[in-house]
Amino acid sequence: MGKNTSMDPEILIEIEGLKKSFGENRVLDGVNLKIREGEIYIVLGRSGAGKSVLLKNMVGLLKPDGGRILYRGRDLVKAGDDEWKRVRRDFAVVFQQGALFDSLNVGENVAFGLRRMTGMKEDEIRERVRQALSLVGLEGIENLRISQLSGGMKKRVAIARAIALSPKVIFYDEPTTGLDPIMSATISQLILRMNRQLGSTTFIITHDLKLAFSVGYTLAMLHDGKIILEAGVEEFRKSSHPVVRKFVEGIPD
Ligand SMILES: Nc1ncnc2c1ncn2[C@@H]1O[C@H](COP(=O)(O)OP(=O)(O)OP(=O)(O)O)[C@@H](O)[C@H]1O
Ligand SMILES: [Mg+2]
Repeated sequence: MGKNTSMDPEILIEIEGLKKSFGENRVLDGVNLKIREGEIYIVLGRSGAGKSVLLKNMVGLLKPDGGRILYRGRDLVKAGDDEWKRVRRDFAVVFQQGALFDSLNVGENVAFGLRRMTGMKEDEIRERVRQALSLVGLEGIENLRISQLSGGMKKRVAIARAIALSPKVIFYDEPTTGLDPIMSATISQLILRMNRQLGSTTFIITHDLKLAFSVGYTLAMLHDGKIILEAGVEEFRKSSHPVVRKFVEGIPD
C-alpha cells in the first residue's frame, strides 16, 4: 500500500486532522482516516462519540474548524459552493431517521434527487424509480404514503432514493438502528449487495457490531474525537486496545 497516501489512486477519501467543536464541546479532535475506492468503511463508536458530526462534515452539512477532507485529492474543506454542487452529485446520504418527506408519496421521494439534480425526462425518472425500488425489494409501492410504511420499509425507501442517483459514494448513518434482527440482517445484506452491484464506495457510521462484522472491509473506532484503531474485521475483533475490547465485548462503565 502506498506510503504517500494522497498520491495513492486507491484512496478515494482521505481525512487529515479533522476538528469540530461546539462551544466548549470538542467533538472531533484530529480525525484521520482513509477510504479506498469501492470498499465498505465503517466507523464505530459509542452514542455521542461524534459519528454523525463526522459524517455531516464529510458531506458538507457542517463546516470543520480545521483539517482536510480530500476527495479525489481535492480538499472539500476549502471547496466553494460550485465545487460542492459537483461533489454532491457523487454523494448520496441515507440519514439516521431516513429523512423522507411525509408530504410526498414513495415514488416522489425516490425521484426527488433525480428531479432536482438531473435533467432526466419524466419517463426515464419513472423507470429509474421502479428499478431502485425493485433493487431494495419494494416493487410497485410508488403510490404509498410514507405514513403507511413500517420502519424497515422506510429505511429501504431511503436506500432506494440514495441509489437512484447512482452515487460514487453512499453514506449511511445508523442503517440498522431500531430494526428487528431479521430486518437488520436484510438491510446489512442489501448494503453489501448495493456495494457489489453498483460499485459505490460505502461509508457507514454505526454502533451495530453485527452489521460491522458482517459487511465491513475496514472498521475504525472513533473515541475521544479521534480514530484510535483502523483495521480489518479480524484485527478489529481481536484488538487488545482496551477501549475497543470494552466496546466489542459490551462491558459496562
Ligand atoms: N448541531 C450541533 N450543535 C451542538 N452540538 C452538537 C450538534 N450536533 C452534535 N452535537 C454534539 O456533538 C456530540 C456528538 O454527537 P453525534 O450526533 O455526532 O453523536 P453520535 O456518535 O452520532 O451518537 P449516536 O450514536 O447516538 O447517533 C454530542 O455531544 C452532541 O451533543
Ligand atoms: Mg448519530
